[in-house]
Amino acid sequence: MLRSKILSRTGTVLDTFVKNIPLAKVSGAFLDEVDVKILIGYATYQGQTRQIARHVADHVVAAGHAVELLETSDADDIDLDRFVRVILAAPVHASEYPRALTDFVRDHVEQLNRMPTLFLSVSLSAAGHDSEDWRGLDRILEDFSSATGWCPGRTEQIAGAYRPHEYDVFRGFIMRRIIARKDPEAALNEDKEYTNWGALDQRVDFWLRS
Ligand SMILES: Cc1cc2nc3c(=O)[nH]c(=O)nc-3n(C[C@H](O)[C@H](O)[C@H](O)COP(=O)(O)O)c2cc1C
Repeated sequence: MLRSKILSRTGTVLDTFVKNIPLAKVSGAFLDEVDVKILIGYATYQGQTRQIARHVADHVVAAGHAVELLETSDADDIDLDRFVRVILAAPVHASEYPRALTDFVRDHVEQLNRMPTLFLSVSLSAAGHDSEDWRGLDRILEDFSSATGWCPGRTEQIAGAYRPHEYDVFRGFIMRRIIARKDPEAALNEDKEYTNWGALDQRVDFWLRS
């Protein structure tokens, strides 16, 4: 009954998502508030941005909205007119965002620039307070914006994760050196997550209210 009530208001997209979240999150007054359909698209290499996108999807659903969550490489010819808002998330790798994200943005740039958008830029630079690192993030965002033509309504810099078991030898070598410098307390052979989930929720809430 619960699922069919949501389906009649929002279609199959939310139904797909409801299957993956605790039913406690879709109870009570929430059912009457499902009115904004939000696309959450992400690209990832080692999986942290996927985790962030899933967390944000849970959070946005709990706030009463319908969500479609997809990897931008699987977007095909998705029609953004089906959505009221869009969140895109992608990691910084070697001072760039993944091709899967830039291709998606280029394909949809006119629609993206017409609607409320939030860009979650995931990196290790955002885990620290090095001003040169933060200036680097600004430059990367500017380059991305001029290359794609997309001006995100709001951008949040989100700390990602260090995942040594996901790197090949070359990347492992580079990442070890970076982490040893940035976070001398980190164990170089162990995964370490820097994402602050509570702060992420607050930033998403702020954007949802804007
Ligand atoms: C090969 C490689 C290059 C990276 N380059 C950068 C970088 O230029 N700047 C930065 O702040 N973080 C960089 N990172 C850190 C990633 O942004 C961070 O690990 C992020 O959590 C990866 O997200 P993902 O798991 O979704 O791929 C790099 C990581 C790897 C493995």
